[in-house]
Amino acid sequence: MSQQGMSRREFVGQTAAGMALGMGLLSGACSAPSLAPRRRVGPNDRIVLGLIGCGGMGAANMRSLMGFDDVQVAALCDVDEARIPGDFKDVETKYGKAPDVYRDYRRMLDRKDIDAVIVGTPDHWHALNLIHAVEAGKDAYCEKPVSHNLVEARSMAAAARHHKSVVQVGTWQRSTREFTDAIAYVRAGKLGRVTQCRAWIADATRIGRGKVEPVPPNLDYEAWVGPAAMTPYQSNKVHWNWRWVMNTGGGLTTDWGVHMMDIALLGMSAGQDLVMPTEVSAYGGRYAILDDDRDAPDVTEALLQFEGPDFVMHWSVLRDHPGKPGHGTEFVSADGRTLRVWRGGWSLLDPDGKELPKEESEPVPTDHWRNFLDCVKSRGTPRADLASVAQTTIVCHLVNAALESGEVVRWDKARMEVVGESGKETLAYSRPYRKPWKLPVYS
Ligand SMILES: NC(=O)c1ccc[n+]([C@@H]2O[C@H](COP(=O)([O-])OP(=O)(O)OC[C@H]3O[C@@H](n4cnc5c(N)ncnc54)[C@H](O)[C@@H]3O)[C@@H](O)[C@H]2O)c1
Repeated sequence: MSQQGMSRREFVGQTAAGMALGMGLLSGACSAPSLAPRRRVGPNDRIVLGLIGCGGMGAANMRSLMGFDDVQVAALCDVDEARIPGDFKDVETKYGKAPDVYRDYRRMLDRKDIDAVIVGTPDHWHALNLIHAVEAGKDAYCEKPVSHNLVEARSMAAAARHHKSVVQVGTWQRSTREFTDAIAYVRAGKLGRVTQCRAWIADATRIGRGKVEPVPPNLDYEAWVGPAAMTPYQSNKVHWNWRWVMNTGGGLTTDWGVHMMDIALLGMSAGQDLVMPTEVSAYGGRYAILDDDRDAPDVTEALLQFEGPDFVMHWSVLRDHPGKPGHGTEFVSADGRTLRVWRGGWSLLDPDGKELPKEESEPVPTDHWRNFLDCVKSRGTPRADLASVAQTTIVCHLVNAALESGEVVRWDKARMEVVGESGKETLAYSRPYRKPWKLPVYS
């Protein structure tokens, strides 16, 4: 595999030391930096893409985007050498040209020919990957949840706005017929006045008991941990499993809450600017899965109060949900009807649970990945615009902040800030970045 002639030693050197010292991008405060030059992509041009994070979803997004003729994947980046070969081969086969391979994503961002990047890294890396990308004049397809904590989500949305970047978030349910139908039905007032929403995910994933191990030679663990707290390497806490470790993920409230609560928030809003809760309380913890290294809660019950429109949302992370799909969103109307939507369908139920006839709306005009490409060309607002999904992500973080602090957390939408101090001491609100990393702060 060609890795720009990089040896293993150079690979590690580029990530650990290079990531710490390169580009002078480690400064925290950002006094409105000037806009980076951006190539204007014409309607008939190919959009040149780079992938940051060649894992499960990053690679899946890349393959979806490679399905379009106006895409050229030029570069791949991962801090784990072992994760690159499959993607490398597919890109080489598709375009007849080997992609360039990077370990330090900022070296990829230096390239002028790359128009946009896919951010497919674990949640604790999204903020730096995304903000550095927009500062380099790139557009981005960024995976959900937008961030690891609330302060990051706010800064990311402000950074993209400042740099005029198009950022589509990977909440692809927003481009799926059952969800758009359900949202259109509620928004059109066909369900009447909605007084309650429910969203849930049933899951009992275990990551097992691991032990401290030597870091495998293919992985630059220092770079993988990045701004998170350094902990000794355990293979059961890295790829995929990081989402059940609160140092790197947010448990199922961020992993799935960002999908399922997103639909409730969209249905209750007129457009992409979402209704936000005024108060959030949450209860739960690790009750079911005890002999395991995960520290994410396996039970969460949260109540979120909204004003204007007035309604209550109930979010659950539970072990099972007999009689219901394992995940879903429900809207309950004042007259007792319930609209239930899940991946695969939606139904309208009377107060006895009997199915009522429903109407379908117009099909979604384009798929999620095509919508991103179209917006890169038109400079339009994508269907899962970062500013909007940052709001949903903040709602998830408010739930985790309430759970972690044991306090009722209040949100001021106009100031995009928690009211008072409740919840502010939590990892869900913000985190100290491990040196030398600093979050560029935009507002
Ligand atoms: N939209 C969806 O339905 C959906 C589904 C699954 C995952 N996701 C999201 O996709 C993201 C990735 O999840 P995953 O399950 O694919 O994780 P994963 O652990 O399988 O892959 C992440 C990859 O990023 C690499 N990486 C870590 N730090 C890096 C850095 N600084 N630079 C370059 N590469 C780095 C890792 O080595 C790994 O190969 C997460 O945010 C997750 O929430 C979204």
